Amino acid sequence: MAWKTLDDMDLKGKVVLIRVDINVPVENGRVTDATRIEKIVPTVADVVSRGGKPVLLAHLDRPKGKVVPEMSLRQVLPALKSALAGRRVLFADDCIGAPAKQAVAAMERGDVLLLENTRFHPGEEKNDPMMAASLAALGDIYVNDAFSAAHRAHASTEGIARLLPACAGRLMQAELKALEAALGKPVRPVVAVVGGAKVSTKLDLLGNLVGKVEHLVIGGGMANTFLVAQGLEVGRSLAERDMAETARGILAKARAAGCTIHLPADVVIAREFKAQAANEVVAATACPPDAMILDAGPQAVANIARVFETCRTLIWNGPLGAFELEPFDAATNAAARKAAELTAAGKLVSVAGGGDTVAALNKAGAASGFSYISTAGGAFLEWMEGKALPGVEALNQ
Ligand code: 3PG
Ligand code: MG
Repeated sequence: MAWKTLDDMDLKGKVVLIRVDINVPVENGRVTDATRIEKIVPTVADVVSRGGKPVLLAHLDRPKGKVVPEMSLRQVLPALKSALAGRRVLFADDCIGAPAKQAVAAMERGDVLLLENTRFHPGEEKNDPMMAASLAALGDIYVNDAFSAAHRAHASTEGIARLLPACAGRLMQAELKALEAALGKPVRPVVAVVGGAKVSTKLDLLGNLVGKVEHLVIGGGMANTFLVAQGLEVGRSLAERDMAETARGILAKARAAGCTIHLPADVVIAREFKAQAANEVVAATACPPDAMILDAGPQAVANIARVFETCRTLIWNGPLGAFELEPFDAATNAAARKAAELTAAGKLVSVAGGGDTVAALNKAGAASGFSYISTAGGAFLEWMEGKALPGVEALNQ
């Protein structure tokens, strides 16, 4: 890895600008899930213990270059204080200019400073050099700990990294290490599980994966599109019929690359899209015209378990069925638990991330059994697509 880490930096007496991703859900002014806040604690603690003064740069939501009070990071302050128990946490009403400079000057040893939402300035998302320079002027060293925002080439994630001595924070390091182990230089064979509703949103991802993994398990609504592509009827199931040709292209590419694609041999069908809807298991070749496929069936789950057993590395994105509606979470739960069991036995390295995935694995009670769960959504997907992430690239110099 070409980027530096905190171990390579002399932080003593330095103002250390740390880009974090604390883009957490906020309801009525309160943080409802502090996971992303807890994840930045090791980096902040490390900077303090090496005598540096941590100044946090972050965004919240998408204010689009304007000051939107409902998107103020001030709302995150109580949760940040409790995560950094015992530390004084200061706040500045602007991330650049006089308010920010004064707040930095007021910091005492051991203090942490959070600056207001970087996206309140239009220059942030434009990666405006002036904005990057204004941010850089506040400190001596730049640490990027926001892997989950690294797919954005913004002033606080990309531009600034070119203006100051820069390195990866502990969370960024952990993410990159886990992802490297899953797709960069994995122990083979590798199985990828890709689920979710639509093939159209995951085309690049599937195209990249078939060239990199030995087994690809396709689930969720996406699997229906592949069944249609093979000439099967899927009744009223969610499926993108206009993507059939594209799906056939992916199947052909996989064959050429020696990647085995696993589609469900049996499926769970229902007539209504709701929890506890009356349901039955049928062969994937026998979906009635008035039914919809809401989950993979027991044979499909058994096949997935067998594939997991033959593999050494698993990368997972997206649920296998309509996991938010019981009992159509069964396949996702069973496969997730199998992955956790093999991981615990030291037989599998398992990495998961992206959007609904973490929610689905948490619901299965299996998330803590995975080797690594990424907190990233869009960045995890772009990385799975094989794209370079600007925030990571900017550290590579
Ligand atoms: C995220 O929540 O995935 C990151 O914080 C990036 O947010 P964005 O999608 O608004 O750029
Ligand atoms: Mg988002």
